[in-house]
Amino acid sequence: MTGKVLLITGASSGIGAATAKLAAENGWRVALAARSAADLDAMVGAIGAENALALPCDVTRMDDLEAALDATLKKFGELDAVFANAGLGATAVGTAGGDPANWRHMIDVNIWGLLLTAKICLPALKASKGHFLMTGSRAGVIALKGSVYGATKWFVRGYAANLREEMAEWGGRCTLIAPGMVDTPFFDEPKPQGLKSEDVARAVLYALEQPDTVNVNEVLVTPNAG
Ligand SMILES: NC(=O)c1ccc[n+]([C@@H]2O[C@H](COP(=O)([O-])OP(=O)(O)OC[C@H]3O[C@@H](n4cnc5c(N)ncnc54)[C@H](OP(=O)(O)O)[C@@H]3O)[C@@H](O)[C@H]2O)c1
Repeated sequence: MTGKVLLITGASSGIGAATAKLAAENGWRVALAARSAADLDAMVGAIGAENALALPCDVTRMDDLEAALDATLKKFGELDAVFANAGLGATAVGTAGGDPANWRHMIDVNIWGLLLTAKICLPALKASKGHFLMTGSRAGVIALKGSVYGATKWFVRGYAANLREEMAEWGGRCTLIAPGMVDTPFFDEPKPQGLKSEDVARAVLYALEQPDTVNVNEVLVTPNAG
C-alpha cells in the first residue's frame, strides 16, 4: 500500500469519483475537491474518513483552492500527486451556434481553474517531487468544427507539455490524460458506447504508479467496439 496522498478536483462525479475510488483501493489517501459537498461526504463515508477528505471547493476561486490545500496538508501531512480533472462541456455545438456565456464558464473552469490548481499545489508537489496530472480530451488532440470546448482541451494539452518541462527541473512529473467519449454526467444523455469512468481511472493509476524514473507524458484512451 502506497499511503501517498492524491488530491483530485472534480472528484464528486464521473472520472474524478472513479479515480478516487480506485486510488483508495490501491492504498492512496485521497483529498476530494468539487462543489457538491454532499456527494463528497458520501464518498468519504464509502472510502473511510481515515483515508479520505472532502474539500468543498470551486476551482475558479483561489481562496477555495488555498483552503483545500491547507486542509489536505493538515490532515495528511504531505501532497504527492494532484489530478486536475474538474471541467465541463459545451451547451451548443460550434462557434456560430455557440453560447458565449457557456464559453466563459468553460474557459473559467477548464483553463483558469486548472492554472490556479497548478499554481496553488506546485510548492507542495515540489517538496515531495510529486506528480501533476490533468484531464484533457481526445477533443484536444483532433480538429472539431468550431469547437470552443475542444480548444480549451488543446490548451490543456499544451499546458501539460509546458508544465512538464518546468516540473522536470526538480524531478517532478506531469501527465496528460486524454479520454475519448466517457459515459458520465458530463452528457445529458447516457453514452453506452463510450468508455466507463473506471476505464479512465485505470489510465490515471497506470501513470501514477510508474517508478519515479518514468514519466508517462500522455495517455490517449478511446472506446473500442470490442
Ligand atoms: N465525459 C467525457 O466524454 C469526457 C471526455 C474527455 C474529457 N472529459 C473531461 O473529464 C473531466 C471530468 O468530466 P466527467 O466526464 O467526469 O464529467 P462529470 O461527471 O460532469 O464531472 C465533472 C466534475 O467537475 C466538477 N466541477 C465542475 N465545475 C467545477 C468547479 N467550478 N469547481 C470544482 N469542481 C467543478 C464537478 O463537480 P461539482 O459539480 O460538484 O463541482 C464534477 O465532479 C472534465 O475535465 C471533462 O472535460 C470528459
